Amino acid sequence: MTQSKRFARLAERDINKETFVEAWPDAGLIVADGPNDPRPSLTLEPAPHKRVIEMDGKTRAQFDSLDTFIADHFLDLSVAEEAMATPSLQIARMLVDINVPADQVRRLALGCTPAKLCEIVRHMSVLEMMMGLAKMRVRKTPANQAHVTNRRENPALLAADAAEAALRGFAEIETTVGIARMAPLNALCVLVGSQTGRGGVLTQCAIEESMGLRLAMKGLTSYAETLSVYGTERSFVDGDDTPWSKAFLASAYASRGVKIRFTSGTGSEALMGSSEGKSMLYLEARCLCIVRGAGSQGVQNGSISCIALPESLPGGVRAVLAENLIAAMLGLEVASGNDALASHSAIRKSAKLMLQFIPGTDFIFSGYSAVPRRDNMFGGGNFDAEDFDDYNVLQRDMQIDGGLRPVREAEVLAVRREAARAVQAVYAELGFPEIRDEEVEAAVVAHSSDDMPARDIVADLAAADRFLEGPQDVRDVISALRRHGFPQIAANLTEMLRQRTLGDYLQPAAIFVRDDPSSPKPTFRVLSALTDPNDYAGPGSGYRLQGARWQEITALPQARSPHDFIADRIGAPLPNLHELGPARPGRFNEVIVCVGPAFGTALTQTINGLPHEEVLKAIFTGIAKEGMIARLIKAYHTSDCAQLGFTASSYSGSGIGIGLQSRGTAVIHKRGMPRLHNLELFSFSPSLTLETFEQIGRNAAKYAKGEAVKPVPVTVDNWARLRLIVKTALLHRRETEEVRDKPPQELFFDWEPDV
Ligand code: 5AD
Ligand code: CA
Repeated sequence: MTQSKRFARLAERDINKETFVEAWPDAGLIVADGPNDPRPSLTLEPAPHKRVIEMDGKTRAQFDSLDTFIADHFLDLSVAEEAMATPSLQIARMLVDINVPADQVRRLALGCTPAKLCEIVRHMSVLEMMMGLAKMRVRKTPANQAHVTNRRENPALLAADAAEAALRGFAEIETTVGIARMAPLNALCVLVGSQTGRGGVLTQCAIEESMGLRLAMKGLTSYAETLSVYGTERSFVDGDDTPWSKAFLASAYASRGVKIRFTSGTGSEALMGSSEGKSMLYLEARCLCIVRGAGSQGVQNGSISCIALPESLPGGVRAVLAENLIAAMLGLEVASGNDALASHSAIRKSAKLMLQFIPGTDFIFSGYSAVPRRDNMFGGGNFDAEDFDDYNVLQRDMQIDGGLRPVREAEVLAVRREAARAVQAVYAELGFPEIRDEEVEAAVVAHSSDDMPARDIVADLAAADRFLEGPQDVRDVISALRRHGFPQIAANLTEMLRQRTLGDYLQPAAIFVRDDPSSPKPTFRVLSALTDPNDYAGPGSGYRLQGARWQEITALPQARSPHDFIADRIGAPLPNLHELGPARPGRFNEVIVCVGPAFGTALTQTINGLPHEEVLKAIFTGIAKEGMIARLIKAYHTSDCAQLGFTASSYSGSGIGIGLQSRGTAVIHKRGMPRLHNLELFSFSPSLTLETFEQIGRNAAKYAKGEAVKPVPVTVDNWARLRLIVKTALLHRRETEEVRDKPPQELFFDWEPDV
């Protein structure tokens, strides 16, 4: 099809596997500022009633149930008139202005109608929204949520993966099911696993809502997140709900000490075919007003499962950031998406992530897939287990706390084994189908469920049904753990229960951190809007990644000591290289090789491991093959390659000299040329071989004889610089350490070329 080879190559790129579509407002395929979106307006009944009689262009008689809920339960009428009268641009500027505290913006936001909230963010670039998010985020310390699931619903693997996710730093772990009936067992496995990896990690199981509530009441989950809300009445009803039923459900959870967070996000209404021709962001703003009005402490938003839809449209990624920002403006804890698979392109998915990663959100991912993509039962993650090391490097590069930490293989294996064995014991004690030792061992080292032996799903499902219907609950799990030698895990589970009755983690944006990991009696400290309020007010304020936490993030297992890089390049000084005294000018038939001050003494090999002795032999052989004589000198006044070449030619009787650094970088220079000019430069030292060095000797000799010369071909490896830049810097530093105030010395290389 394409004629251009460049276009053909571009067509194969991952980015061109994506779908891009033009906006179609009437179908709801527009991310923000749709032509059918209402303009902000609000009319209140005169005092003393102050009831909303008109909002965003509709009178109360025209309200649908969502409008009614927003008008009656969301809007703070004590501030609404002031907020609506404040120009949107002014509020947008307040969001960015470090001199305006978050509370001041939030006070106004709670008096804004959905259309007004959209009008505010309309004025903002993504950079300004990120500034706003850094300030408006509820919890000061950012965190991260994991997905832990597997295609085969293997209990040992679920427990092991949950333990690893907890160890890696996730503050919340979410599981779900392939087969709905499995939910009680999956919730149990992730609970036990998480408390093995790190006590205090909150867990949930995404499942149909009445089942979700039953799991929570059995103590198998500590939070619930998929209380979904939608921005049109039609899609709400399709979800079998109303804002009031959601509010009721939220209270049911809260009454049992279970943290809840609603879910919404751009695109769901268009996907469900009932957008009413409104833009995604406008509908999402309505959702967020309902979330707040229903008394939820937070929201999972950022399009979530619908993300590919806004991403197919112009401005989609910006709109998703805008919805995160509006949620934070309303004082909601935000788990900011980045969960569902959104892009084929690693560039695009990483770029998108930055909009939440850089400002920080309460949960940067509302589900980082802590398992391989194929095992992610949420439909694949945008970031997966395979991306852990990349993510840790991003945190280290930008000095940003993304909620994770680098881990060592040994500690991972240890918690995986402990978790798999613990859940094996619980299954045995509770009378569930046996988890065999073979499964435990496979789970310890598994990457994915492909590494697991087969299991009888039917028997597990029957056990799951009995567990759900029967009287057993988390207390039986705790007893089983105690009896089978897992007192620490049992203690963590008990503490989770105790925390439930205290209820401090029902405060906005709450997570647990362990006070003292070494203490056998765990107490979990709550970080929330109350105990850890975000106090960002510009440079020097707010959350700063420093101290022990920064040390933890910098200490990648892959990071090496600088000393290791050049240790193997240092050997015994060459025995057949002798310094004779100050160098003198020589005769017409010679080529001078001038080596750097560390050559053959402080350093004895080039960057790619060629022994200096062999390099000299190769160059000398090349010169001899052209019938010329090689003379060797060593410079002490410089370690610079060009200076070495310049020094070589200035002493050379023929006027041709070779400069050679210890790391192998070489240059051929001719007397009379400017210092930094040359005949040939071999700057890619890692790709130089002994054959190249012989060629360099030959060419130098030919220049000395005045012959026509074809430059030595060198292979250029652009990755070499990337791989070897640290080594290069350290080798050069070592050579430079040898620089001193001493004139070039004549060297005797005790070796005869055999030509
Ligand atoms: N709006 C509302 N709910 C959503 N969910 C995912 N994306 C959205 C969205 N954009 C909820 C659904 C789904 C669960 C994973 O999260 O309930 O089943
Ligand atoms: Ca989630």
